Amino acid sequence: MKFKNTVLTLVFLLGSASVHAAELGDPEKGAKVFAKCKSCHQVGEGAVHRVGPHLNGVFGRKAAAFAEDYKYSKGLLREGADGLVWTSDKLDAYIENPKALVSKTRMNFRGLSDPEQRADLLAYLRLFSDNPANIPEALPTANAPEVALSPEILAIVGDPAYGEYLSSECTTCHTTSGSDTGIPSITNWPAEDFVIAMHAYKQKVRPHPVMQMMAGRLSDEEIAALAAYFQDL
Ligand code: HEC
Ligand code: HEC
Repeated sequence: MKFKNTVLTLVFLLGSASVHAAELGDPEKGAKVFAKCKSCHQVGEGAVHRVGPHLNGVFGRKAAAFAEDYKYSKGLLREGADGLVWTSDKLDAYIENPKALVSKTRMNFRGLSDPEQRADLLAYLRLFSDNPANIPEALPTANAPEVALSPEILAIVGDPAYGEYLSSECTTCHTTSGSDTGIPSITNWPAEDFVIAMHAYKQKVRPHPVMQMMAGRLSDEEIAALAAYFQDL
């Protein structure tokens, strides 16, 4: 029964994988698409505000975050105050049609209708948002499907007591209070998301070197045990 559920979940995850892969695109092609933005925006080392604000670290950033030294439209300032955050979905919507997201935006750009070009462009911009904690795409639900895991690995039932024993290695960095200050919180996750995230480091799909090393030392059983332990914390 447990196994069957897991297989269903895996199929679901793989189903969303293709959507997600399409969302991310090819950064090299995106660099060329960025030509359309260059007249107004800079990105990369030393980028400064020009007609538009610079786009370093835009993923996960609050909209209109540079109000101190950049003059945004009232519309974008309000969206930012309302809590609009530049996730890839929101960026995609804004680039497709700036006015759809912010009615009176000052961004005088008619929009990019080709979804593939937008995906490539977002993949390119993401290269300049290199603090993973700021990238919603680095979160397990979004990134997980890129990792191919057999149903057997997902079906391993972890032993929470063993997980607790192993967890002292993790809690030097990850707090168990669930608070999320810089280092992401790893408590209360669905065990499968946790397992997939750990294997994503192990398989080096996720780039963070410390976590690659941590996960690389763990067996499949140990990862399952940690997932079982942190799940109910
Ligand atoms: C004609 C100039 C122009 C072009 C071309 C342009 N932008 Fe903008 N962009 C702006 C301006 C001006 C703003 C500020 C908008 C406001 O205050 O409403 C802006 C805002 C933004 C923001 C919000 C930034 C923040 O700090 O909240 C993003 C993201 C963005 N642009 C991305 C792009 C991308 C990607 C492209 C290329 C597809 C692009 N823009 C093309 C002028 C431009
Ligand atoms: C030296 C500090 C450190 C230690 C020790 C450590 N981690 Fe991490 N962990 C991090 C950092 C930093 C990140 C964010 C990396 C990233 O964004 O990819 C992270 C990310 C994660 C994530 C993904 C979080 C997310 O939101 O996507 C999981 C799951 C995780 N760690 C589990 C563990 C487990 C389990 C252990 C113990 C075996 C552990 N970590 C040990 C620092 C650490």
